[in-house]
Amino acid sequence: MEKLAINGGRRLDGKVMLQGSKNSALPILSACVTVNGISVIHNCPDLTDVTAALKILEHIGCRIKREGHTVIVDSTDANRFDIPDKLMREMRSSIVFLGALLARFGAACVSSPGGCEIGLRPIDLHLSALRKMNTYINETGGFLECATDNLCGADINLAFPSVGATENIMLASMGSSGETVITNAAREPEIIDLADYLKSCGAEIYGAGQSVIRIKSGKKLHSAEHTIIPDRIVASTFMACVASAGGRIAVDGVCKEHLAPVIPVFETAGCEVSAKRNELVIKSPERVSRVKSLGTMPYPGFPTDSQAIVMAMLTKAKGTSVISEKIFENRFRHVPELIKMGADIRVEDGRVAVIEGVKRLCAASVSSSDLRGGCALVVAALGADGKTVVDEIHHIDRGCEAFEICLSQLGAEIKRE
Ligand code: EPU
Repeated sequence: MEKLAINGGRRLDGKVMLQGSKNSALPILSACVTVNGISVIHNCPDLTDVTAALKILEHIGCRIKREGHTVIVDSTDANRFDIPDKLMREMRSSIVFLGALLARFGAACVSSPGGCEIGLRPIDLHLSALRKMNTYINETGGFLECATDNLCGADINLAFPSVGATENIMLASMGSSGETVITNAAREPEIIDLADYLKSCGAEIYGAGQSVIRIKSGKKLHSAEHTIIPDRIVASTFMACVASAGGRIAVDGVCKEHLAPVIPVFETAGCEVSAKRNELVIKSPERVSRVKSLGTMPYPGFPTDSQAIVMAMLTKAKGTSVISEKIFENRFRHVPELIKMGADIRVEDGRVAVIEGVKRLCAASVSSSDLRGGCALVVAALGADGKTVVDEIHHIDRGCEAFEICLSQLGAEIKRE
């Protein structure tokens, strides 16, 4: 098992290049199935989750070529609509293949993803939407067998703006007849990116990024080239790293608009943040200030994926911060590990964390429970006294490309062991 060993207390300085977005890359790779042709996807991050998505594409019959951060998917000969349980288990978000397989083959057979480290994660909204589009779904023995003889457009009102459900509906619509209208759709930048890729393949999609998305179905999709947007969550992770360790860094390749929900939080904590064109510069204060009250919300609210890393930054703040997790029911599993490092955090009702800022954190042996929780431990370790060892870092490798190399370039003392 690989671990990260971090000697805290080194100030960060320099520039880091931001990776492409994991949460854009995954739905876009599954969308390649809906195209009968070749997709050239640039800025695709090198992550274990991306490798898992590519294995699924190969299983389905696509030909894959990976050249640095460019992935070429030829789906011309795709001929299977099943995803074996083993491949589904490698990555929970493979559920987004459901809509794509239905669009291409009118059938899909996958195992039910079930809950994961951060919560129950039901897919009821995905399934009820697909049923409304005239799909028959049989859920037995942990498997989902889906079939349709005529996928139809539908008016779908989501009870919650689920990112995955919005993506699955958009993907299924690529093979349906008639118009689909999604109301209360997710508005995340990754939804816009998926729509932009599909539009470059010839799809007609209006309103992505807003609450109502309108998709004119029945368009035959053709080969296209697309560049994935920068990863706003990894950008905020680097910001938290410098706020914890101290120093001044530049993050190159950002999209400033996507960071609008997080920049004010760092400013409230006393960081100086400026962004010009694609470069964001952040300078930490001597000691961060508390953030009185922060709640995670769907975009354009503060992202749940940045909750853990901001909490780690606030463990050493002047004063008391309160963070409410409103998206997932089990996303505080980093808290006991931060407490091992000397943080003073109290969790109330499982959803609210009260963080009393302490002057110092100390090194400890800690374990990642999930991707963002693992990153939070690295954030804390960079500002702690002594050598912290973080294990179970396969979680971090799912979403952060060469994390320790980027941090070393910024002056951190961090090593994979
Ligand atoms: N939900 C339901 N029913 C559904 C779908 C969702 O109750 O049918 C609930 C979920 O259980 C959760 C909430 O709605 O409590 C939000 O879920 P959503 O569907 O929006 O999330 P997701 O599509 O499963 C994506 C990201 C997550 C990110 C969330 C929220 C990908 C691959 N994953 O998940 O990213 O936290 O949106 O923004 O895009 C991560 O990158 O670490 C990560 C977990």
